Parts: sequence; C-alpha cells; structure tokens
Amino acid sequence: MSTYVFDAYGTLYDVNSVATATEDAFPGFGDTITQVWRLKQLEYTWLRTLMDRYEDFWTVTRESLDYTLTTLGLDAEPRVFDTILDRYLHLTPYPDAAKALESLRNQGHQIAILSNGSQSMLDDLVRNTRLDHLMDAVISVDARRRFKPSPEAYSLVEQQLGTPPSDVVFVSSNPFDACGARAFGFKVAWIERVTADSLHQELRDADPIAPATLFKVLRLRMDALDLDPEVRIHSLMDLLDVEPQTLGKPK
Ligand code: LAC
Repeated sequence: MSTYVFDAYGTLYDVNSVATATEDAFPGFGDTITQVWRLKQLEYTWLRTLMDRYEDFWTVTRESLDYTLTTLGLDAEPRVFDTILDRYLHLTPYPDAAKALESLRNQGHQIAILSNGSQSMLDDLVRNTRLDHLMDAVISVDARRRFKPSPEAYSLVEQQLGTPPSDVVFVSSNPFDACGARAFGFKVAWIERVTADSLHQELRDADPIAPATLFKVLRLRMDALDLDPEVRIHSLMDLLDVEPQTLGKPK
C-alpha cells in the first residue's frame, strides 16, 4: 500500500473552468482575466509566505481577482464579483479524476489532497464535485500558515497521515509544486499536461499569443531548478501504470 497525495488546483481540478464565468461577466476579457487571476493568485501565496503575512487562500483568491479586475479597468458589481469567486468552490474536476482516484483506492492505496486551499474551500469543493468519498484526508496548508512550496506545508502530510516523506507519491501538474515536493523528499509524479512539442506548435500558430498560451509558457512547463520529477505522466489514469516501489530515491 502506498500513500498518494494530490495537489488540488490544476491537478485534480481544472482552474481554467472559471473561464465561462469570467467571459460571461466581461465578454472578450474572459481568457485575460482567467490567466492573470491565476498568475497573481500563486504569486500572492509566495509573497505572503516570504513576508510572513499569511492570509488564507480564499483571501488570496479574492485579492488576486480584485487586482486583476482593477488592473484591467473592469468594474464588477459585488454580485458579479462574488459569482466569479464562487467558481472556486465548483471547479470542474479533470475527466479522469474520479476514475483514477477510485482505481487507486480499490488497489488499497491511501488517497489524500494537500493543497494551498483553505480548509473550508477544499471541503466545499470536494463535496460539491462528489470526490469526498474517495479521500482519506483533505489537508490544507492552513494549519502551518505557509503556502507550498514551503517545506513546512509539505510536512503536514507526515503529521496528519503518519507516512514518512520517502513513502509518499506526490502528484501535481504545477511545476513549482512538483519541484517543492521533490526538494522536500517526496516521490513525485508530475502531470505534464502540455508537452514541449504541442506548446511549440501552439506558439508557432499563435497570432497574437493568447493569455492561455502565455500561461502555459510561464506555469505549465517544468522549471529549471534541477529538481526534475521521478515520473512524468500525461493524465491521472497514467498513475495506474506507475509502480511506486520502482521510483528512484528522492532528491
Ligand atoms: C494547490 C495549488 C498549488 O492546490 O494549485 O495547492
């Protein structure tokens, strides 16, 4: 039996699924809002952790949406603002998420989430999307008041599940998170959702480059931090072909 710990946003859940709400609210600006919002949301987690000014992810998500709309010169009534923000409680899971989690559980593995999300955001999200019954634990970084990739955030897994880092298979599509988990000592499976070839083709075809494409350039390719993951997979179902025991020694 192994312990599989999943990142939430971008890994089990498609953060781009907010785009229908952003486009509905501001036609023509949906993609720009969606990408700037996510870029700033992550940036604020790192800034707040570095400055020792933790506020939970709901606050960070609200403040980054506020920044995005203000900077783009878009005026949202409170009701519209709240409708967009609320999407974070109803993000669309990747199509293979439930099946992959269920299959791993049926093989006897322990399944958890470790996310930057606040506890109540995560609890609402997994319940609203009916993934709650597939989870042994939903762990928020709230307890440590440090966002990933701080080692203190990853240390919550051992504290809450009792599994030592070298026995954890950590799954994330976010390169910064995969690197942080590898640096911490987890075995890491990185979901490479955008291959180099497909991105290069998208860039060649782009005229002009769309915000979603720029996001892929900035946040979806592996970072050059000498912390490459042990396994690259392309979908959550690919995890079923990975033998945790064969994964190399953590860095
Ligand atoms: C999370 C962010 C990193 O779920 O996507 O923690």
